[in-house]
Amino acid sequence: MKITLPLALGLAMTTAVWAATDLHAGHHAGSPPGGAPAARKPVSFPPTLKAETLANMRDHLLAIQEITAHLADKQFDAAAEVAETRLGLSSLQRHGAHEVAQYMPEGMRQLGHGMHQAASRFAVVAQEAGATGDVGPALRALSQMQSSCVSCHAAYRLK
Ligand code: HEC
Repeated sequence: MKITLPLALGLAMTTAVWAATDLHAGHHAGSPPGGAPAARKPVSFPPTLKAETLANMRDHLLAIQEITAHLADKQFDAAAEVAETRLGLSSLQRHGAHEVAQYMPEGMRQLGHGMHQAASRFAVVAQEAGATGDVGPALRALSQMQSSCVSCHAAYRLK
């Protein structure tokens, strides 16, 4: 698996964004699922990019489902691989992140980046679980990554 390089990068850059995202999600605990719809900031993407982004989002959800199944089967390397290639920093190219980022408000861009970094961090923790056999830290890292999904959905919607 070739996840080491982007990983080191992500770890170096983000603990802060990731921690902030986590706090942000905590802040929403107790509000209705998805946060108050009226409060979500509408963001404009060109139509093709919007369709691609939503398809990409559906793949994010699929990836999380696959990761969860791999964790249940103690297939830690497989879980790490899905996370890094489909959600992590290694996925940025594949997702055309550069193209889409220019249409995002700064806060949204940061949440997106935080998600990719948290996914790469999960990949490392999942690989460690292969050595220790303890799935707990991997589940926690997965939850922290998912808090980025929750925070962004609570704050933004596409026009
Ligand atoms: C940087 C912001 C951001 C992040 C991070 C993010 N999303 Fe989204 N996602 C959106 C926006 C914006 C929409 C469109 C919502 C709307 O317009 O109501 C969306 C829509 C979706 C949809 C609906 C797709 C459809 O066909 O309508 C799914 C599923 C989804 N996201 C899953 C995820 C998952 C899973 C994650 C985390 C791994 C994630 N998203 C992370 C911004 C984000």
